[in-house]
Parts: sequence; C-alpha cells; structure tokens
Amino acid sequence: MNVLLLSPAYPDEMTRFAEGLAAVGARVFGVGEQPVGTLPKRCRASLTAYLQVSSLFREDAAISEITQEVAGKGVHFDRVESLWEPLMELAARLRETLGVPGMTLAETVPFRDKEVMKQVLDDAGIRTPRHARCSDDDECREAAERIGFPLIIKPIAGAGSADTHRVADADELEQVLAQVRHVPEVSVEEYIDGEEFTFDTVCAGGEIQYFNMSSYRPRPLIQRQIQWISPQTVALRDVDAEHLAAGRAMGEAVLEALSFRDGFTHMEWFLTSKGEAVFGEIGARPPGARSVDIMNFACDTDLYRGWSEAVCHGAMRVPYERRYNCAIIFKRAQGEGRILRVDGLEGLMARYGPAIVHVELLPLGAHRRNWLATLMSDGHVVVRHPDLDTCLEIADRVGTDLQLYAG
Ligand SMILES: Nc1ncnc2c1ncn2[C@@H]1O[C@H](COP(=O)(O)OP(=O)(O)O)[C@@H](O)[C@H]1O
Ligand SMILES: [Mg+2]
Repeated sequence: MNVLLLSPAYPDEMTRFAEGLAAVGARVFGVGEQPVGTLPKRCRASLTAYLQVSSLFREDAAISEITQEVAGKGVHFDRVESLWEPLMELAARLRETLGVPGMTLAETVPFRDKEVMKQVLDDAGIRTPRHARCSDDDECREAAERIGFPLIIKPIAGAGSADTHRVADADELEQVLAQVRHVPEVSVEEYIDGEEFTFDTVCAGGEIQYFNMSSYRPRPLIQRQIQWISPQTVALRDVDAEHLAAGRAMGEAVLEALSFRDGFTHMEWFLTSKGEAVFGEIGARPPGARSVDIMNFACDTDLYRGWSEAVCHGAMRVPYERRYNCAIIFKRAQGEGRILRVDGLEGLMARYGPAIVHVELLPLGAHRRNWLATLMSDGHVVVRHPDLDTCLEIADRVGTDLQLYAG
C-alpha cells in the first residue's frame, strides 16, 4: 500500500498521521515545502520517501513537479491523502491526475465552498442557515434585505473564524462591508443563535466507524473576539445525550448527502434554545487544534492509527471506549512580547493532578504567538474526567487560575 501524504509535518499533528500510516504497513511518500533535513525526526522515520516541492499552494506547479517525480521513479499510489484544509483540492486533483481512487475535485468542492456545501444540503432537506453568495457590496445589501438582520458575513472558503462578522443592522453592514473588501467572495447568512457543537467521524467505505461530538465553549466567533478568554473544546462522553440527538442525525444525513466514503470528517452545528439543530459547516478532514488528541484521551484510543486503518484497510480496528469527557483549554498570555512568567500551574496540579493529562505551554523567553492567527495561542492544557460537570469545572479552573504573563 503506497500512500502519498501531502504536508506530512505541517500542521505538526500531520506527523502523527504519517506515523499511523506507517504503523499499519503503508509506505508513506511525503510531499511538502520544507527541506527534508528540517522535518522532525519522527516524521522522517515514518516516511519511505519525501519530495520537496516549490509550493503546495501553486497547484499546477506542484502537480507537475509531483507527476514528474512519480513518472521518474515509476511509483504507483493507492491513496493520496491530505488532512489539512487548504490542500484538499490539490489532493483531489492529484488523485485525478495520477488515477488514484478517492475523492474527486467535484466531490471535494462541496466540502470547501460554503455556498455549494449549503446548496447540496438544502437539496437534501437539511436545515442550513438562509444564505447567499455575494461578490460585491450591492449583492450583500440585497442578500441582507432578503435574509434579514442579524446576519453573518464570512469568507466562502474561510477558516478559524477569520474575517467573520456578526451584523446587527444596516449601519453595521456598511462598516463590515468596508472591513471585508479584501475578501473576494463572501457568504451572507442568517445569524443562528445557539450553542455550537461538532460531529466528527472516521469513515470507511461510506460507513461511520467512529464518531465524536465536541462542545465549543464559548462559541468560536466569541473566542476570537475577546483575547482574555481561554477557549475550550470539550469532547463529550455521553454522545447519546438527548440534546445531541438532532445534531447526530443531521451529521449522518450530511455525510450521506455528500456521499462521503473514507477518512475523517469534521462538521460544526448549532443547537438553538428551541432544541433545533442547524448545520454550520463541514470539512473532509479531522478537526484541528489537537482535537484528535482529545478524542484519543476521551476514548483511550489512537485515532491516528484508526484513521490509517480506515483509509488503508477499509475498516477501523483499534478499540475505543468512551470513558471520559476531555477538554482542551487554550491559554493566551497577558501583555505582549516574550513569556516572562507562568502562575497557577502548581496549584492546579496539586488539586487536580490525575485529571490533567497534558500541559504544553510556551517556554519562558519564547515570543507570544498571534492569538488571532492560531487557536493554539500561547499553550494549552488537556483535562479529562468521567463526569462532565467535574470536567468543565476543572477546565474553567485552568481558564481562570493558570495565567501566562508576557512583556
Ligand atoms: N450563520 C451563523 N450564525 C451564527 N454564527 C455563525 C454563523 N456562521 C458562522 N458563525 C460563527 O462564526 C464561526 C466561524 O464560522 P464557520 O462557518 O465555522 O467558519 P470557519 O471555517 O472560519 O470555522 C462559527 O463557529 C460561529 O461562531
Ligand atoms: Mg468553523
């Protein structure tokens, strides 16, 4: 089994997928932008070969560099895999060029273009926010009239809540239009008030082999607006809870409507105060920001391997058991510049030690990360507990009691 894996070392959890593939017996051929000598050791150890291309984002050039190399070496690939959102189309085009089975470009577009996505789902009778594709101010104004306020304006192919705005009225619309002028195409959407959850799966042959539901605390748009918040993603143990049923049913219907077959998916959905599930978005990839790790901690499993089994061998074999709720808490330092001090960790360890399963903070002296550009921010802590309220209480304590200071 030969697998071409795009970007095997970035984002850094990609190395774990490379290791998973190697562990299930695949020969992994990495393609990335960085020189082979700068790949982490663990990544290099799991690769059979590595090709450095000039850019993964100039798709035509990347495809011709890869096809030349492949022709020269006479390698045949069984799979082309990418687990990073911006490379989904490149992966699809490579499959088509190299004659490899898996998602085509036409099948990939509904996972990337948020308007095509919602049109396909509307046709399947799934509840999406009312929506419109707009490429200039007048189209946005017209859409606003039709959809009504409050509404959301966001990029057609966005990520990480960047350039996403809630718009309360016509005055605010004018302000926001000025702010999103650099975005070529936007979705204008009905604003859905509610809590936000995920529905994440590993599928093989069109069957769900494993699924996860996480809760975002608070809503991602709020996480990105207020720096002092320590955002949380919480993988939920009781996925059979009544309030999650509608989202799970929706998730299954969405995968069916999009004819998804093999690999990871990551769907986000809203739960309104009336209990209605409304579709948010879906990607044909795992959730980022260490969400796969929290699923692993929640279920005492290894989904890096499980995914590898699903895409290489047609079924996920690693056992899993939902034993815990697991929360990841992202920390943002106070002040700018370099990390000077970390307060509160000892106290938390003394009080909640066994529940704290991972701590990864920037070291003293390191430069702060840009919290708007990456949810990973200045570090994170992972906690787990069988009881949800206890898990949330500990997660909130990490939010309030652990503080990083920069200067
Ligand atoms: N229609 C909507 N109603 C309410 N909030 C929304 C809506 N669309 C997006 N948001 C908010 O913006 C965030 C980012 O939007 P999303 O579509 O998930 O794009 P991204 O790819 O940036 O994650 C969501 O998590 C949610 O908080
Ligand atoms: Mg999102």
